Order: sequence, then C-alpha cells, then structure tokens
Amino acid sequence: MQEKLHQLFSDFQKGLKNCLLEAEILDLKSQYLGKKGFISEILKNLKDVSVEQKKMIGPLANNIKKEIEHLTANKMSSIERDAINKKLAEKRIDITQREKFFDKGLNHAGPHPVSLIQREIEDIFLSMGFDILDGPHIEDDFHNFEALNIPADHPARDMQDTFWFPNLKNLLRTHTSTIQVRGMKSKRPPFKFVGPGKVFRSERTDASHESCFHQLEGMMVGENISVANLIYFMKVLLSEIFKSEVEVRLRPGFFPFVEPGFELDIRCMVCKGKGCSVCKQTGWVELLPCGMVHPNVLKAGNIDTNKWNGFAFGLGLDRLVMMKYKIDDIRHLHGGDLRFISQFSAY
Ligand code: PHE
Repeated sequence: MQEKLHQLFSDFQKGLKNCLLEAEILDLKSQYLGKKGFISEILKNLKDVSVEQKKMIGPLANNIKKEIEHLTANKMSSIERDAINKKLAEKRIDITQREKFFDKGLNHAGPHPVSLIQREIEDIFLSMGFDILDGPHIEDDFHNFEALNIPADHPARDMQDTFWFPNLKNLLRTHTSTIQVRGMKSKRPPFKFVGPGKVFRSERTDASHESCFHQLEGMMVGENISVANLIYFMKVLLSEIFKSEVEVRLRPGFFPFVEPGFELDIRCMVCKGKGCSVCKQTGWVELLPCGMVHPNVLKAGNIDTNKWNGFAFGLGLDRLVMMKYKIDDIRHLHGGDLRFISQFSAY
C-alpha cells in the first residue's frame, strides 16, 4: 500500500506538469483528493488493515494529501501570474511612440510656448554657469519695491500698476526683480543666477499688454563687473535664442534699481522693421531692460559695495515668444485656444 501511495503521488506530479488550465488542475486534484479520489479511497480502506499498517499508511497518506494541496495551490498561482504577465505584455505602452495613442490632428497636451522658451533660456544660462532661482508670486512692499530702491513716495511706483491685497501689505509681484532681493539674501558673492516666473500688473490689455505675463530676471554680482560683461551675456543669449544675428540697440532707460540703466531693443522680427502692431509701427521692440545694479540695492541685500558690484536684467518672455514665432497679439498666448497652443508642441 505504501508503494501504491508513492506511485500515486508521482503520477499526480506528472499529471500536474501537463496541466495548462486552472480547470485541469482542479480536475486532477479532485481525482486524487475528491470524495472518491485515489487518496480518499485509500484512507477509507484503512479500517481493513492492521494497526501497524495503519500507523504507517495514515500519516503517509495525510502527508501526501497535504503535499498535493500545496502543489496545486502553487501551480494555480503560477498560472494566474503567467496570465497577468501575458496581458501586461500585450498591453505594453511604449510612451515614446505618441502616434500610437493620439490620432493625428487631435488636440493633445504639450508644453506652452512660454514654457518652451523659458526652458531653452534656462539651459543657455545653466551652460554659462548661472543658477536658477524661484520666488513667490505673492510678495510684500519690501521685496517688490523698497529693497529695489523704490521708496514709498518714488514716482517709479506709478510705472507699475500693482494688484494689492485688501490687507494693503501684500501684492502680486509686478516684476521678477523680487528674485534679485531673495537671491542676494540666499547667496554670497560672487554669484550669478536667473529667476523666471509670472508677474502681474493691473493693466488694460491690448496686442502687446497682458495683466499676467512672464519675465526672466538675471543678476550677476562679482568684482569689477562692467557694462561690457552685461552686453556680452545678452548677445550670447539673443543669438542662441534666435539662432541668427539679431539687430539690437541700447537706449538709456530709467529703473531705480539700476544705474546706469538701459533699454535693449531688438529689430522687430514680425515685420522685419517695417512697422506692425507688435512694435507699435516703430520697427523696434523693447525686449530687455537692464543695467548695473544700484548700490542701494546691493546694500539692501547686505552686500559690501566697496568690494562687489554687478548687473541685472529683466527679460520679457512673452514678447520673446512673439518675436520668435511671429505672433502679433499677446492675447493669443493666454487665450486658452488649444488649436493655438498645440502648434508649439515640442514633439
Ligand atoms: N523689473 C523691471 C521691469 O519689470 C525690469 C528690469 C530688471 C530692469 C532688471 C532693469 C534690471 O520693468
């Protein structure tokens, strides 16, 4: 009988190997362990054998029973696992092949052109050793005005129509120059960084003005920094962005936080200088206010003006996008029309 049991067990193992479906396994199991199964029959017949035999056969049969249960459970779960893996393999998504998932012509998600240009400019500055800093949209008088040499009664405040919070303490930053103040606090000279982001002004919108737009601030502080350094970095930047020679001109410009201050204009690339709504028929677009950092600003940032000086600039990203893609109305950029936005998808 012992031999019979061993034989049955090895038959079971062979049978199990050939099973491919869950139903086949359940069927096999019941052939052995079911009410009339081989093992059950043997256990039933134990009453007819001697006590000694019972002592041998009983535990052996029970062990085999347990082993069969164990093996069937294992096989069941491995079949289940294989089935899941097979399904996963069939449904495998190659996320690098977007054509498979988006019908041609469908409006699909993609980066906004301002984000694209921002990333491009960040890369250019990173390659020149600049850091990238961030700052909050909600600011206070100190960071937006005072530390930038714009005291409470200064007429320059009129240049920036400000969205104030009802508490009259906080405001939506009107320029990314706030990041200059934050950068000076967090860094020790020499340093150079850029700080991109949204800015807000209470303005009447037209083809070239929006109440929310984007700037990228730049600041470099070191020993003996000159206007020549400033012009060099701006030229590298613009030629990288436009991938061609860009005609520029420098005009004196007034900003309380720079001295001397400049307006860097570029030849309008929408109309090639003939005159259009973007350049207000002048042929030139004001792109980049800049200048040498005013000593009062450095002082507000706890920087020793006997040793250190620097330059700063504030690049208008929306205007840059308009120049680059020849868009004649800034309102397209934030109009929310997906047909417009999807044209700039990076893919
Ligand atoms: N913050 C100024 C603006 O928004 C731009 C600027 C930045 C000018 C840095 C000079 C230096 O108008």
